[in-house]
Amino acid sequence: MTATAPARPAMPATEHRPRPYTGLPKDEVLSLRKQYANPAIFTLYREPLMIVEGHMQYLYDETGRRYLDLFAGIVTVSVGHCHPKVTRAMQDQLAVLAHTTTIYLHPNFARMAAKLASKMPAGLDVTYFVNSGSEANDLAMMMARAYTGNQDVIAVRNSYHGGSPTTMAATSHHTWKYPQQVNSGIHHAVSPDPYRSPYSGTPEEIATKSAADIHQLIRYSTPGQIAAFIAEPMQGVGGVTHGAPNYLREAYAVTRAHGGLCIADEVQTGFGRTGEHFWGFQNYGVVPDIVTMAKGIGNGAPLAAVTTRREIAETLTQRIHFNTFGGNPVSMAAGLAVLEAIEEDGTQQNAKVVGGRFKAGLVELQRRHRLIGDVRGLGLMLGVELVRDRGTKEPAKEETLAIMEHAREMGVLLGKGGLDGNTLRIKPPMCLTAADVDFALEVLDQALTKVEG
Ligand SMILES: Cc1ncc(COP(=O)(O)O)c(C=O)c1O
Repeated sequence: MTATAPARPAMPATEHRPRPYTGLPKDEVLSLRKQYANPAIFTLYREPLMIVEGHMQYLYDETGRRYLDLFAGIVTVSVGHCHPKVTRAMQDQLAVLAHTTTIYLHPNFARMAAKLASKMPAGLDVTYFVNSGSEANDLAMMMARAYTGNQDVIAVRNSYHGGSPTTMAATSHHTWKYPQQVNSGIHHAVSPDPYRSPYSGTPEEIATKSAADIHQLIRYSTPGQIAAFIAEPMQGVGGVTHGAPNYLREAYAVTRAHGGLCIADEVQTGFGRTGEHFWGFQNYGVVPDIVTMAKGIGNGAPLAAVTTRREIAETLTQRIHFNTFGGNPVSMAAGLAVLEAIEEDGTQQNAKVVGGRFKAGLVELQRRHRLIGDVRGLGLMLGVELVRDRGTKEPAKEETLAIMEHAREMGVLLGKGGLDGNTLRIKPPMCLTAADVDFALEVLDQALTKVEG
């Protein structure tokens, strides 16, 4: 008797109907891109996917085929693709005024800065708007250096903070670093992720030992005083890695004892994504001195920000600092609409509930699939690390790609991360439903079964 292949999982129904696509054919798009785009710009799948429409948690290719998007434009579409409220706010603003710069007053800029302050712990209430996460982290490190008078910055191994010269230096994956003399004075402390830590012990003990490494770095590699410690509360590109809750508390204490400011890079973890809290750092009971954000704040609009305390922000006034598009009225309209949509749609609560269901399902898959070495994350920021052998933890790099290809065939788009590219990253638009989760889990189950053979 031959086993019959399981039925292809059915994606939950939607009322949205995509528009017929009448643009350039895909092969022409591909050949133009090959000829005229910088070859460093890469696509994800063996056969590149062309996406021409989006609606909430779904994406559509040029044939009208629907996909469940579990990667959200790399953790950027927070409240849903083309969320009606955000789209309307941007269209309305675009119709009356697209750009002036901050040399004139505009209500959107002022309202967005105030609204952001209302989401922060007391005292973190002054914001500088920029356009990308890299710019935000650059500015944060510059402010910390200006405020403290110190040069050295400690980042964490396996981090990603951007692609500009300073943030590339803060990033800790050789794959993202060009062999150039980028900004010096940035040192990387051991990651507190218990799954691949060089230390032994409980996650809490590993966190303590990892925080102690910051102290050693300060003693051995700096003049003894530092400008800042910068960390993602949960590493995104690194594959959703994080330490036990005591890590940031202890890391912040060491930093402050040596004159440094604590920068939380909330580019991926902010805006309710981790479910329990609005900001990632709140999961660890700490309050940073500077918070950087991008991606989810604009739901796709180029918007990023640095929020800090007034006395830190004031250091920037010693010179002229200007950002042409920062605070742009259209981006500000998007940001305001995103913050309102998160409140109105119950987005954070959804991330908690639906993310909890997803994680429980992944843990269950781990019981049945030997490739799954680790399941981690909070809310709708989840990582599934795939290994060839649970003992040696050899990264299952090719298997990760194969699973992504199978999932795509079944209509699910996943992300990947980690230094070895062996962690599936699940960070969908936060309007994901329980039915979407159940569908995605079935797809993952089948994809894992196929790859495990
Ligand atoms: C945590 C984190 N910080 C900073 C950045 C850089 O953001 P951008 O690509 O907008 O410059 C990223 C981008 O992936 C990120 O994940």
